[in-house]
Amino acid sequence: MNQIKDELYWVGIKDWELESFHGSHYSTRRGATYNSYIIKDEKIALVDAVFAPFAQEQLQHLEKHIGLDNIDYLIINHSEIDHAGSLSELIAKIPDVPIYCSQKCSDFLKQQHHQDWNFQVVKTGDTLSLGRNTLTFIEAPMLHWPDSMLTYVGGMNVLLSSDAFGQHYTTSQFFNDEVDTCILYQEALKYYANILTPYSRLIAPKVKQLMSMDVPIEMIAPGHGLIWRENPMQIVDQYLKWADAYNEGHVMVLYDTMWGNTEKMAHSIADGLAESGVPYKIVCASNYDVSDLVVEAFIAKGILVGSSTINNGMLSEIVAVLDTFKGMRFCGKKAAAFGSYGWSGEASKQATEMLKAGRFEVVMDPLRVLFTPDEQGLADCHQFGLEFGKALN
Ligand code: FEO
Repeated sequence: MNQIKDELYWVGIKDWELESFHGSHYSTRRGATYNSYIIKDEKIALVDAVFAPFAQEQLQHLEKHIGLDNIDYLIINHSEIDHAGSLSELIAKIPDVPIYCSQKCSDFLKQQHHQDWNFQVVKTGDTLSLGRNTLTFIEAPMLHWPDSMLTYVGGMNVLLSSDAFGQHYTTSQFFNDEVDTCILYQEALKYYANILTPYSRLIAPKVKQLMSMDVPIEMIAPGHGLIWRENPMQIVDQYLKWADAYNEGHVMVLYDTMWGNTEKMAHSIADGLAESGVPYKIVCASNYDVSDLVVEAFIAKGILVGSSTINNGMLSEIVAVLDTFKGMRFCGKKAAAFGSYGWSGEASKQATEMLKAGRFEVVMDPLRVLFTPDEQGLADCHQFGLEFGKALN
Protein backbone atom coordinates (compact mmCIF):
# COMPACT_ATOMS: atom_id res chain seq x y z
CA MET A 1 0.00 0.00 0.00
CA ASN A 2 1.16 3.53 -0.68
CA GLN A 3 0.84 5.78 2.34
CA ILE A 4 -0.62 9.15 1.45
CA LYS A 5 -1.00 10.71 4.88
CA ASP A 6 -1.21 9.57 8.48
CA GLU A 7 -3.75 6.75 8.28
CA LEU A 8 -4.64 7.21 4.59
CA TYR A 9 -3.37 4.79 1.92
CA TRP A 10 -3.75 4.69 -1.88
CA VAL A 11 -4.96 1.32 -3.10
CA GLY A 12 -6.01 2.25 -6.63
CA ILE A 13 -4.90 1.26 -10.11
CA LYS A 14 -2.55 3.00 -12.52
CA ASP A 15 -3.82 2.28 -16.03
CA TRP A 16 -0.77 3.21 -18.09
CA GLU A 17 -2.11 1.69 -21.31
CA LEU A 18 -5.53 3.37 -21.46
CA GLU A 19 -5.92 5.16 -24.82
CA SER A 20 -9.43 6.54 -24.45
CA PHE A 21 -12.11 7.07 -21.85
CA HIS A 22 -15.91 7.22 -22.11
CA GLY A 23 -15.71 5.06 -25.22
CA SER A 24 -13.63 7.01 -27.68
CA HIS A 25 -14.81 10.43 -26.50
CA TYR A 26 -11.80 11.35 -24.40
CA SER A 27 -8.24 10.57 -25.48
CA THR A 28 -5.99 9.61 -22.57
CA ARG A 29 -2.50 9.84 -24.01
CA ARG A 30 -1.03 9.97 -20.52
CA GLY A 31 -3.11 7.06 -19.23
CA ALA A 32 -5.44 7.23 -16.24
CA THR A 33 -5.63 6.20 -12.61
CA TYR A 34 -8.59 4.89 -10.65
CA ASN A 35 -7.87 6.19 -7.19
CA SER A 36 -9.15 4.19 -4.27
CA TYR A 37 -8.27 4.88 -0.66
CA ILE A 38 -8.05 2.96 2.59
CA ILE A 39 -8.48 4.80 5.87
CA LYS A 40 -6.90 2.60 8.51
CA ASP A 41 -8.30 3.80 11.82
CA GLU A 42 -9.97 1.85 14.65
CA LYS A 43 -12.40 1.02 11.88
CA ILE A 44 -11.19 0.47 8.32
CA ALA A 45 -12.95 2.17 5.43
CA LEU A 46 -12.37 1.66 1.71
CA VAL A 47 -13.29 4.78 -0.25
CA ASP A 48 -14.23 4.04 -3.85
CA ALA A 49 -13.35 0.91 -5.80
CA VAL A 50 -11.83 0.63 -9.30
CA PHE A 51 -12.66 0.05 -12.97
CA ALA A 52 -14.13 -3.43 -13.46
CA PRO A 53 -11.24 -4.99 -15.47
CA PHE A 54 -8.94 -4.35 -12.50
CA ALA A 55 -11.21 -5.90 -9.86
CA GLN A 56 -9.05 -8.95 -9.21
CA GLU A 57 -5.85 -6.92 -9.09
CA GLN A 58 -7.29 -4.69 -6.39
CA LEU A 59 -8.86 -7.58 -4.50
CA GLN A 60 -5.54 -9.40 -4.30
CA HIS A 61 -3.83 -6.22 -3.15
CA LEU A 62 -6.43 -5.56 -0.45
CA GLU A 63 -6.37 -9.16 0.73
CA LYS A 64 -2.58 -9.12 1.01
CA HIS A 65 -2.23 -5.77 2.80
CA ILE A 66 -5.49 -5.35 4.75
CA GLY A 67 -7.44 -8.58 4.63
CA LEU A 68 -10.82 -8.19 2.98
CA ASP A 69 -12.67 -9.31 6.10
CA ASN A 70 -11.07 -6.44 8.01
CA ILE A 71 -12.82 -3.81 5.88
CA ASP A 72 -15.60 -2.36 8.03
CA TYR A 73 -17.12 0.15 5.63
CA LEU A 74 -17.25 0.94 1.92
CA ILE A 75 -17.71 4.57 0.93
CA ILE A 76 -18.77 4.98 -2.69
CA ASN A 77 -18.71 8.59 -3.82
CA HIS A 78 -19.91 7.86 -7.36
CA SER A 79 -21.32 4.81 -9.13
CA GLU A 80 -19.71 5.25 -12.55
CA ILE A 81 -17.95 2.09 -13.68
CA ASP A 82 -14.44 3.53 -13.43
CA HIS A 83 -14.92 3.90 -9.66
CA ALA A 84 -17.47 1.21 -8.85
CA GLY A 85 -17.26 -1.32 -11.66
CA SER A 86 -15.31 -3.75 -9.47
CA LEU A 87 -17.94 -3.77 -6.71
CA SER A 88 -19.68 -6.98 -7.81
CA GLU A 89 -16.47 -8.93 -7.37
CA LEU A 90 -15.48 -7.12 -4.18
CA ILE A 91 -18.84 -7.46 -2.44
CA ALA A 92 -19.07 -11.11 -3.41
CA LYS A 93 -16.16 -11.55 -0.95
CA ILE A 94 -17.60 -9.32 1.80
CA PRO A 95 -21.36 -9.43 1.21
CA ASP A 96 -22.50 -7.82 4.46
CA VAL A 97 -20.22 -4.80 4.39
CA PRO A 98 -22.22 -1.54 4.68
CA ILE A 99 -21.94 0.74 1.66
CA TYR A 100 -22.24 4.45 2.48
CA CYS A 101 -23.40 6.44 -0.53
CA SER A 102 -26.03 8.88 -1.78
CA GLN A 103 -29.57 7.76 -2.54
CA LYS A 104 -28.93 8.17 -6.27
CA CYS A 105 -25.71 6.21 -6.00
CA SER A 106 -27.53 3.28 -4.39
CA ASP A 107 -30.17 3.48 -7.14
CA PHE A 108 -27.54 3.56 -9.87
CA LEU A 109 -25.50 0.73 -8.33
CA LYS A 110 -28.62 -1.45 -8.21
CA GLN A 111 -29.36 -0.63 -11.86
CA GLN A 112 -25.80 -1.37 -12.97
CA HIS A 113 -24.97 -4.42 -10.83
CA HIS A 114 -28.50 -5.81 -10.29
CA GLN A 115 -27.74 -6.58 -6.64
CA ASP A 116 -29.34 -5.33 -3.43
CA TRP A 117 -26.39 -4.78 -1.15
CA ASN A 118 -26.23 -3.35 2.38
CA PHE A 119 -26.72 0.27 1.37
CA GLN A 120 -26.51 2.97 4.02
CA VAL A 121 -27.83 6.08 2.31
CA VAL A 122 -26.30 9.35 3.51
CA LYS A 123 -27.05 13.02 2.93
CA THR A 124 -24.96 16.18 3.15
CA GLY A 125 -23.71 16.68 6.69
CA ASP A 126 -24.11 13.06 7.79
CA THR A 127 -21.04 11.70 9.54
CA LEU A 128 -19.39 8.38 10.26
CA SER A 129 -16.76 8.02 12.97
CA LEU A 130 -13.86 5.67 12.31
CA GLY A 131 -12.23 6.38 15.68
CA ARG A 132 -9.69 9.16 15.42
CA ASN A 133 -11.09 10.37 12.10
CA THR A 134 -14.67 11.27 11.24
CA LEU A 135 -16.08 11.20 7.73
CA THR A 136 -18.49 13.93 6.66
CA PHE A 137 -20.45 13.36 3.47
CA ILE A 138 -21.24 16.15 1.02
CA GLU A 139 -23.64 15.46 -1.83
CA ALA A 140 -22.58 17.07 -5.11
CA PRO A 141 -25.34 16.25 -7.62
CA MET A 142 -24.39 16.81 -11.27
CA LEU A 143 -20.70 17.17 -10.48
CA HIS A 144 -20.81 15.33 -12.68
CA TRP A 145 -23.55 12.70 -12.17
CA PRO A 146 -26.73 12.97 -10.08
CA ASP A 147 -25.19 10.55 -7.57
CA SER A 148 -21.87 12.35 -7.04
CA MET A 149 -20.67 12.88 -3.48
CA LEU A 150 -17.50 14.09 -1.75
CA THR A 151 -16.18 12.77 1.54
CA TYR A 152 -14.29 14.95 3.98
CA VAL A 153 -12.01 13.14 6.44
CA GLY A 154 -11.94 15.23 9.61
CA GLY A 155 -8.93 14.44 11.75
CA MET A 156 -6.48 14.10 8.89
CA ASN A 157 -8.25 16.98 7.04
CA VAL A 158 -8.41 15.41 3.60
CA LEU A 159 -11.12 15.96 1.01
CA LEU A 160 -11.77 12.82 -1.06
CA SER A 161 -13.28 14.59 -4.02
CA SER A 162 -14.27 11.85 -6.48
CA ASP A 163 -14.17 13.16 -10.05
CA ALA A 164 -13.83 16.81 -9.03
CA PHE A 165 -10.27 18.18 -9.27
CA GLY A 166 -9.05 15.07 -11.10
CA GLN A 167 -6.94 14.53 -14.18
CA HIS A 168 -6.35 11.62 -16.53
CA TYR A 169 -2.63 11.50 -15.92
CA THR A 170 -0.65 8.48 -14.80
CA THR A 171 2.71 8.88 -13.16
CA SER A 172 4.70 6.82 -10.71
CA GLN A 173 4.36 9.75 -8.31
CA PHE A 174 1.27 10.54 -6.24
CA PHE A 175 1.41 14.25 -5.44
CA ASN A 176 1.07 17.48 -7.40
CA ASP A 177 4.38 18.80 -6.08
CA GLU A 178 6.25 15.81 -7.54
CA VAL A 179 5.31 16.31 -11.21
CA ASP A 180 5.58 18.89 -13.98
CA THR A 181 3.04 21.58 -13.10
CA CYS A 182 2.41 22.53 -16.76
CA ILE A 183 1.48 18.98 -17.71
CA LEU A 184 -0.61 18.58 -14.56
CA TYR A 185 -2.60 21.71 -15.40
CA GLN A 186 -2.95 20.69 -19.06
CA GLU A 187 -4.56 17.46 -17.93
CA ALA A 188 -6.66 19.12 -15.20
CA LEU A 189 -7.92 21.58 -17.81
CA LYS A 190 -8.70 18.84 -20.31
CA TYR A 191 -10.55 16.98 -17.56
CA TYR A 192 -12.55 20.04 -16.50
CA ALA A 193 -13.36 21.04 -20.09
CA ASN A 194 -14.59 17.60 -21.08
CA ILE A 195 -16.21 16.34 -17.89
CA LEU A 196 -17.40 19.38 -15.95
CA THR A 197 -18.07 22.20 -18.41
CA PRO A 198 -21.80 21.42 -18.79
CA TYR A 199 -22.20 21.82 -15.03
CA SER A 200 -20.05 24.92 -14.54
CA ARG A 201 -22.91 26.92 -13.01
CA LEU A 202 -22.99 24.41 -10.11
CA ILE A 203 -19.28 24.70 -9.28
CA ALA A 204 -19.24 28.03 -7.44
CA PRO A 205 -22.23 27.21 -5.17
CA LYS A 206 -20.69 23.86 -4.29
CA VAL A 207 -17.33 25.44 -3.49
CA LYS A 208 -19.09 28.04 -1.32
CA GLN A 209 -20.88 25.23 0.49
CA LEU A 210 -17.56 23.50 1.08
CA MET A 211 -15.99 26.70 2.37
CA SER A 212 -18.97 27.32 4.66
CA MET A 213 -18.06 24.10 6.49
CA ASP A 214 -15.07 26.11 7.74
CA VAL A 215 -12.83 23.07 8.06
CA PRO A 216 -9.13 22.81 7.27
CA ILE A 217 -8.25 21.11 3.98
CA GLU A 218 -4.67 19.89 3.98
CA MET A 219 -5.03 17.67 0.94
CA ILE A 220 -7.48 17.09 -1.90
CA ALA A 221 -7.44 13.51 -3.12
CA PRO A 222 -9.49 13.07 -6.30
CA GLY A 223 -10.71 9.91 -7.96
CA HIS A 224 -8.27 10.30 -10.85
CA GLY A 225 -4.68 11.43 -11.16
CA LEU A 226 -2.43 13.33 -8.82
CA ILE A 227 -3.32 14.28 -5.26
CA TRP A 228 -3.20 17.99 -4.45
CA ARG A 229 -0.84 18.16 -1.46
CA GLU A 230 1.07 21.40 -2.02
CA ASN A 231 -1.38 24.31 -1.74
CA PRO A 232 -4.43 22.11 -2.37
CA MET A 233 -6.75 25.11 -2.66
CA GLN A 234 -4.99 26.17 -5.87
CA ILE A 235 -7.14 23.74 -7.85
CA VAL A 236 -10.30 24.98 -6.11
CA ASP A 237 -9.40 28.55 -7.08
CA GLN A 238 -8.69 27.39 -10.62
CA TYR A 239 -12.07 25.63 -10.81
CA LEU A 240 -13.79 28.88 -9.82
CA LYS A 241 -12.02 30.61 -12.74
CA TRP A 242 -12.83 27.83 -15.20
CA ALA A 243 -16.46 27.83 -14.07
CA ASP A 244 -16.86 31.56 -14.74
CA ALA A 245 -17.24 31.72 -18.57
CA TYR A 246 -13.50 31.13 -18.88
CA ASN A 247 -11.53 32.09 -21.99
CA GLU A 248 -7.99 33.12 -22.90
CA GLY A 249 -8.98 35.95 -25.22
CA HIS A 250 -8.28 34.45 -28.64
CA VAL A 251 -10.33 33.12 -31.54
CA MET A 252 -10.23 29.54 -32.74
CA VAL A 253 -10.62 29.28 -36.52
CA LEU A 254 -11.85 25.71 -36.76
CA TYR A 255 -12.35 24.15 -40.15
CA ASP A 256 -12.37 21.04 -42.27
CA THR A 257 -11.87 21.14 -46.01
CA MET A 258 -12.35 18.89 -49.06
CA TRP A 259 -9.95 20.42 -51.59
CA GLY A 260 -8.30 23.22 -49.66
CA ASN A 261 -10.72 26.04 -50.48
CA THR A 262 -12.24 26.30 -47.00
CA GLU A 263 -8.69 26.08 -45.68
CA LYS A 264 -7.74 29.10 -47.81
CA MET A 265 -10.74 30.93 -46.38
CA ALA A 266 -9.65 30.06 -42.83
CA HIS A 267 -6.21 31.57 -43.39
CA SER A 268 -7.56 34.80 -44.91
CA ILE A 269 -10.06 35.10 -42.05
CA ALA A 270 -7.16 34.69 -39.63
CA ASP A 271 -5.33 37.55 -41.40
CA GLY A 272 -8.40 39.71 -40.78
CA LEU A 273 -8.46 38.73 -37.12
CA ALA A 274 -4.80 39.66 -36.88
CA GLU A 275 -5.56 43.10 -38.32
CA SER A 276 -8.25 43.54 -35.66
CA GLY A 277 -5.62 42.86 -33.01
CA VAL A 278 -7.22 39.65 -31.78
CA PRO A 279 -4.96 36.61 -31.37
CA TYR A 280 -6.09 33.49 -33.20
CA LYS A 281 -5.39 29.81 -33.58
CA ILE A 282 -6.10 27.91 -36.82
CA VAL A 283 -7.29 24.38 -36.11
CA CYS A 284 -7.97 21.75 -38.77
CA ALA A 285 -10.62 19.54 -37.15
CA SER A 286 -9.42 16.34 -38.77
CA ASN A 287 -5.97 16.73 -37.17
CA TYR A 288 -7.40 16.69 -33.64
CA ASP A 289 -9.59 14.37 -31.62
CA VAL A 290 -12.84 15.68 -30.27
CA SER A 291 -11.73 15.89 -26.62
CA ASP A 292 -8.82 18.12 -27.62
CA LEU A 293 -11.18 20.27 -29.68
CA VAL A 294 -13.39 20.69 -26.61
CA VAL A 295 -10.34 22.09 -24.82
CA GLU A 296 -9.59 24.42 -27.74
CA ALA A 297 -13.17 25.71 -27.68
CA PHE A 298 -13.14 26.01 -23.89
CA ILE A 299 -10.12 28.33 -23.89
CA ALA A 300 -11.28 30.41 -26.89
CA LYS A 301 -13.22 33.65 -26.56
CA GLY A 302 -14.77 33.15 -29.97
CA ILE A 303 -14.91 30.43 -32.59
CA LEU A 304 -15.24 30.60 -36.35
CA VAL A 305 -16.29 27.31 -37.89
CA GLY A 306 -15.69 26.43 -41.52
CA SER A 307 -16.87 23.48 -43.56
CA SER A 308 -17.05 22.69 -47.23
CA THR A 309 -20.48 21.63 -48.41
CA ILE A 310 -20.78 17.95 -49.25
CA ASN A 311 -24.04 16.18 -50.17
CA ASN A 312 -26.06 19.21 -49.03
CA GLY A 313 -24.44 19.24 -45.59
CA MET A 314 -21.30 19.68 -43.53
CA LEU A 315 -18.21 17.50 -43.45
CA SER A 316 -18.68 14.78 -40.85
CA GLU A 317 -15.80 15.95 -38.63
CA ILE A 318 -17.47 19.33 -38.22
CA VAL A 319 -20.89 17.78 -37.58
CA ALA A 320 -19.42 15.60 -34.81
CA VAL A 321 -17.51 18.46 -33.23
CA LEU A 322 -20.45 20.87 -33.24
CA ASP A 323 -22.72 18.19 -31.81
CA THR A 324 -20.21 17.66 -28.99
CA PHE A 325 -19.95 21.42 -28.41
CA LYS A 326 -23.75 21.58 -28.09
CA GLY A 327 -23.63 19.21 -25.13
CA MET A 328 -20.92 21.29 -23.45
CA ARG A 329 -23.19 24.33 -22.93
CA PHE A 330 -20.31 26.79 -23.18
CA CYS A 331 -20.97 30.26 -21.78
CA GLY A 332 -20.20 33.67 -23.25
CA LYS A 333 -18.55 32.65 -26.52
CA LYS A 334 -19.18 34.46 -29.80
CA ALA A 335 -19.21 32.54 -33.07
CA ALA A 336 -19.86 32.56 -36.81
CA ALA A 337 -19.53 30.11 -39.71
CA PHE A 338 -17.99 30.03 -43.16
CA GLY A 339 -17.27 27.64 -45.99
CA SER A 340 -16.61 27.03 -49.65
CA TYR A 341 -19.26 25.41 -51.84
CA GLY A 342 -19.93 24.41 -55.44
CA TRP A 343 -23.68 24.69 -56.04
CA SER A 344 -26.03 24.17 -53.06
CA GLY A 345 -23.87 25.56 -50.21
CA GLU A 346 -25.78 24.49 -47.08
CA ALA A 347 -22.81 23.79 -44.78
CA SER A 348 -22.19 27.25 -43.33
CA LYS A 349 -25.91 27.81 -42.73
CA GLN A 350 -26.20 24.45 -40.96
CA ALA A 351 -23.09 25.21 -38.90
CA THR A 352 -24.68 28.51 -37.88
CA GLU A 353 -27.79 26.72 -36.65
CA MET A 354 -25.74 24.18 -34.71
CA LEU A 355 -23.73 26.97 -33.10
CA LYS A 356 -26.95 28.67 -32.02
CA ALA A 357 -28.24 25.35 -30.64
CA GLY A 358 -24.98 25.12 -28.69
CA ARG A 359 -25.65 28.48 -26.99
CA PHE A 360 -22.92 30.30 -28.89
CA GLU A 361 -23.72 33.93 -29.61
CA VAL A 362 -23.68 34.04 -33.41
CA VAL A 363 -22.66 37.60 -34.25
CA MET A 364 -22.39 37.45 -38.05
CA ASP A 365 -24.22 35.86 -40.96
CA PRO A 366 -22.35 32.91 -42.51
CA LEU A 367 -19.77 33.66 -45.18
CA ARG A 368 -19.85 31.48 -48.29
CA VAL A 369 -17.41 31.49 -51.20
CA LEU A 370 -18.11 29.72 -54.51
CA PHE A 371 -15.48 27.05 -55.24
CA THR A 372 -11.95 28.50 -55.10
CA PRO A 373 -11.77 31.93 -53.47
CA ASP A 374 -10.43 34.52 -55.92
CA GLU A 375 -8.90 37.84 -54.95
CA GLN A 376 -12.34 39.25 -54.05
CA GLY A 377 -13.26 36.07 -52.18
CA LEU A 378 -10.10 36.27 -50.09
CA ALA A 379 -10.73 39.95 -49.43
CA ASP A 380 -14.24 39.06 -48.21
CA CYS A 381 -12.72 36.48 -45.86
CA HIS A 382 -10.24 39.03 -44.57
CA GLN A 383 -13.07 41.47 -43.92
CA PHE A 384 -15.09 38.72 -42.19
CA GLY A 385 -12.20 38.06 -39.80
CA LEU A 386 -11.66 41.78 -39.21
CA GLU A 387 -15.32 42.35 -38.36
CA PHE A 388 -15.48 39.30 -36.10
CA GLY A 389 -12.41 40.51 -34.26
CA LYS A 390 -14.03 43.92 -33.75
CA ALA A 391 -17.25 42.25 -32.55
CA LEU A 392 -15.21 40.35 -29.98
CA ASN A 393 -13.83 43.46 -28.32
FE1 FEO B 1 -14.42 9.05 -13.03
FE2 FEO B 1 -17.60 9.96 -13.39
O1 FEO B 1 -16.22 8.77 -13.25
